[in-house]
Amino acid sequence: MSQSSTQPNALQHVAVIMDGNGRWAKERGLPRLEGHKAGAESVRAVCQSCIEKNIPYLTLYAFSSENWKRPRHEIDGLMSLLERFLKTKMPDFKRQGIRLHAIGRLDRLPPKTRKALEDAIEKTKDNNNLNLILSLSYGSREEIVDATRDIAMEVAAGKISIQDVDNELFSQHLYTADFPDPDLLIRTSGELRLSNFLLWQLSYAEIYVTKVFWPDFRQEEFNRAVDEFASRNRRFGKV
Ligand code: FPP
Repeated sequence: MSQSSTQPNALQHVAVIMDGNGRWAKERGLPRLEGHKAGAESVRAVCQSCIEKNIPYLTLYAFSSENWKRPRHEIDGLMSLLERFLKTKMPDFKRQGIRLHAIGRLDRLPPKTRKALEDAIEKTKDNNNLNLILSLSYGSREEIVDATRDIAMEVAAGKISIQDVDNELFSQHLYTADFPDPDLLIRTSGELRLSNFLLWQLSYAEIYVTKVFWPDFRQEEFNRAVDEFASRNRRFGKV
């Protein structure tokens, strides 16, 4: 699977750049980690909304390859938060039928976080209401470079020929090979950037930007984004 549905306004996959946790905390005179904690509650709320709306794929930009440059205590706090989230939300994942996936350079994650992630992926593998894809230590350029390397090695080994390399084959070598392309990209906190997120996969996605900070982005805000998406005229390059 790789390309978006070309049916106008079918909403199969929502991708989110969850931004503004730090500013949300600053406005309240709280440490940045409190913003991330409140952001984890928004993750829960948006998963619930996707299930209610029968949206089968949700990809969240939870930690970028550039986020490793943040102060050590913030990185440690985010990793512990993720670990706790994965452990404590497991009964909810089971009850709601959420299947967890992860994309990115996962080998860079601390061993405890990686273990919690692998356990959660394994334990949820038979769920099928919502595929929740966490982008962790993820960078789209790195992903494209990794895919290019894999393809070059297959060509060098004589497994495929250069003529076989097309959009479909390339998509199949990305971390997202098993998922359709996102139909809708949501970015919170008002920034107008892609920030190295799913550059290939977002080619035809509709983009929705809101000034609302991620910790305040709950079901009502999600509904607003979905309603806006429904009113867009998707042409996929046609007239
Ligand atoms: C961007 O806000 C957010 C992040 C880098 C981390 C996102 C993490 C969470 C929402 C926490 C929980 C995640 C899961 C999957 C449980 P920012 O810190 O860049 O905010 P700022 O731009 O206002 O400083």
